[in-house]
Amino acid sequence: SLARLTDLLQPAAADGTGVGAFNVFSIEHAEAHVAGAEQAGLPVVLQISQNAVRYHRGLEPIALATLSIARSAAVPVVVHLDHADDQELVDQAIALGFGSVMYDGSKLDYDANVAATADVVLRCHRAGIDAEAELGEVGGKDGVHAPGARTEPQEARQFVEATGVDALAVAVGSSHAMTSRTAVLDLALIAELKAAVPVPLVLHGSSGVPDDEIVRAVRAGMTKINIATHLNVVFTGTVRDLLGDDPKLVDSRKYLGPARDAVAAEVARLLGMLHGA
Ligand code: G3H
Ligand code: ZN
Repeated sequence: SLARLTDLLQPAAADGTGVGAFNVFSIEHAEAHVAGAEQAGLPVVLQISQNAVRYHRGLEPIALATLSIARSAAVPVVVHLDHADDQELVDQAIALGFGSVMYDGSKLDYDANVAATADVVLRCHRAGIDAEAELGEVGGKDGVHAPGARTEPQEARQFVEATGVDALAVAVGSSHAMTSRTAVLDLALIAELKAAVPVPLVLHGSSGVPDDEIVRAVRAGMTKINIATHLNVVFTGTVRDLLGDDPKLVDSRKYLGPARDAVAAEVARLLGMLHGA
């Protein structure tokens, strides 16, 4: 069934557990993430980034498939727009029935980020959905590991008050698109942010963070854990092995199906780890 973001994040933030948010690139990913969540018996966030929308040349093809898969799931599923800075795309996601939107104004200066985020929050809340924003740019969006940025706790608190945002992505040492799980997080800063910020915190670029460090981050105060690249590593690794093993294999279902199963198993494992943190 479809849920909104705060339905999942608020109880988790209160309990000190984590919620998995996994990116959807193709229909197989949406099916895998829901199958994994059903195996674990836990809710999940399916997120579609503005980049993935560009890849599919529009929001509807991938969003309608994802919403359909989410609606018939046996667990609560949030369909979330990830890393959007296109205001028209935000409005399209709201109109299609997304449960939340992340407006990424992290490249803007503080005042411009507040103004643009506050506007998105207003439109989301009017539609009865939730909004995530980012303060302090989590690096690596261009594929180069850049873990240096840090979010300042008092500025983060002010940002949340000024915008009314429901969840906040913060920079604490992770970086996007890492294929090795070697990132070291600033756990003391996470605890300071948790104490200062009144809404659930979001860890982006979690693919580069080892399991035990993710668990420590959740215990220190991170709630929504965004993972994309790591599941692509699992998916593509399965495809690569199968195609390498059998040069005669041509039916795409014969390699996409096993890749989907492998991602589902990893999603179930990750959700259990986050929930048990
Ligand atoms: O917004 C999506 C996430 O931050 C995913 O990052 O590909 O490094 O796991 P990742
Ligand atoms: Zn991200």
